[in-house]
Amino acid sequence: MRDVYIRAEKPDDVSAIYQVNSEAFGRENEASLVNQLRGAASTFSFVAIQSDQIVGHIFFSPVTVRGGSSNLSILGLAPIAVLPNYQRQGIGSLLIQQSLKACSESGQDAIVVLGDPKYYSRFGFISASTKGLRCEYDVPDEAFMVLELNSGALQDCTGTVQYRSEFKVCE
Ligand SMILES: CC(C)(COP(=O)(O)OP(=O)(O)OC[C@H]1O[C@@H](n2cnc3c(N)ncnc32)[C@H](O)[C@@H]1OP(=O)(O)O)[C@@H](O)C(=O)NCCC(=O)NCCS
Repeated sequence: MRDVYIRAEKPDDVSAIYQVNSEAFGRENEASLVNQLRGAASTFSFVAIQSDQIVGHIFFSPVTVRGGSSNLSILGLAPIAVLPNYQRQGIGSLLIQQSLKACSESGQDAIVVLGDPKYYSRFGFISASTKGLRCEYDVPDEAFMVLELNSGALQDCTGTVQYRSEFKVCE
């Protein structure tokens, strides 16, 4: 991984981000999702740059916990994408590590993610069920994970996590 850096999304990045997501996923659902969520919610978006090109992207949007406290700021990590030719070089890991740091610094309480536990456990994510959180979607227990950024924040927050309605396009 040579000379890659991560920075927050800028207005001019929109079409490159669309391209990265559609190429990485091999379809346009996730790319369109990002476009729909951007502006509709308070989102966090970061890009990975190599040789002046956007080669990766990570996105976070707010989730709510039905039956839980509404005073917490919890984000859902989705999607994350790296251009096919740039995968397996550590760019995805760098995107996750640096964006989690930025989310933490901006005062977010926790992050949830739906994905491969082997991958996300590298960054400290644990099964969300251990914190009493369930996913609104019918997914294997171990695939729904959480990372507390604000230690102890989830202590009194249990219930069903709901993503924004825009996510229906990716089910
Ligand atoms: C997931 C993704 C962002 C990872 O980016 P990356 O730059 O390749 O990741 P890294 O180089 O930091 O890490 C690669 C490691 O993670 C593993 N890995 C990569 N993608 C994975 C996935 N979807 N599930 C499980 N493990 C994965 C690889 O096995 C590799 O492990 P190794 O180094 O031991 O071989 C990238 O593969 C991608 O864009 N995939 C298509 C889109 C996608 O499925 N996104 C995730 C769902 S939102």
